[in-house]
Amino acid sequence: MTDNRASSAAAAATQAEVSEEIEQIAKAHERDASPGAAGGVAAETQPRLDYPPYRSSILRHPTKDLHHADPEGIELWSPVFGQADVDPLEADLTIQHRGEPVGERTIVTGRVLDGEGRPVRHQLVEIWQANAGGRYIHKRDQHPAAIDPSFTGVGRCLTDGDGVYRFTTIKPGPYPWKNHRNAWRPAHIHFSLFGREFTQRMVTQMYFPGDPLFALDPIYQSIVDPQARERLVATYDHDVTEHEWCTGYRWDIVLTGSHRTPIEEEVES
Ligand SMILES: [Fe+2]
Repeated sequence: MTDNRASSAAAAATQAEVSEEIEQIAKAHERDASPGAAGGVAAETQPRLDYPPYRSSILRHPTKDLHHADPEGIELWSPVFGQADVDPLEADLTIQHRGEPVGERTIVTGRVLDGEGRPVRHQLVEIWQANAGGRYIHKRDQHPAAIDPSFTGVGRCLTDGDGVYRFTTIKPGPYPWKNHRNAWRPAHIHFSLFGREFTQRMVTQMYFPGDPLFALDPIYQSIVDPQARERLVATYDHDVTEHEWCTGYRWDIVLTGSHRTPIEEEVES
């Protein structure tokens, strides 16, 4: 498919049309994954790279096998971050400017684990997100929502000895994108983790529970296994919520294994 065909299809499609496509793919997946299905299809826990309701995935998903590197050679090199490389204040996205950012102050915390449930210690976790009005500070985001001069939307921290990361931030708003007419992303925070080896690097998105846009969002729905995509949704945790200060959410990240957190190949909106 050429760029023109993809973009004109995107311009013409309505949410109802995209939702219908999402539903058809979900039904086909349900049939394939049912216990009686022929061939015993393996659980599909990662996003589909070629997922037509997510229009730009058609144009950029790999069509050839990836270049294979010598894994032993790569694993001789690993990212190393010392305590001096990241200031603990960088984990608080609400204190980067002189004023208070607008919106719901919230703590997002959780553990980074490997496939055996062991903590991934002292590793870099980076986040980026829109502000409370759903606006990024980015030249490509020009939709008419206010930029908050007190909020940049970027932070990072190292996991502690138990693999725990913790950010103080502002709950992001949903925002429109140009996948189809009236397309809106559910509120989300982008996460990048390096893990213990470069081969474990992952980029993903965390969502907030109960978002009404989940069913309509082709990026969220491109993980066709409902249980797998729910692993991207944080849990409200009243023990993380702080009196007279902020709400709290908990979200664990699993780098490898069958309960691995779904990841994306390429950073998108
Ligand atoms: Fe985003």
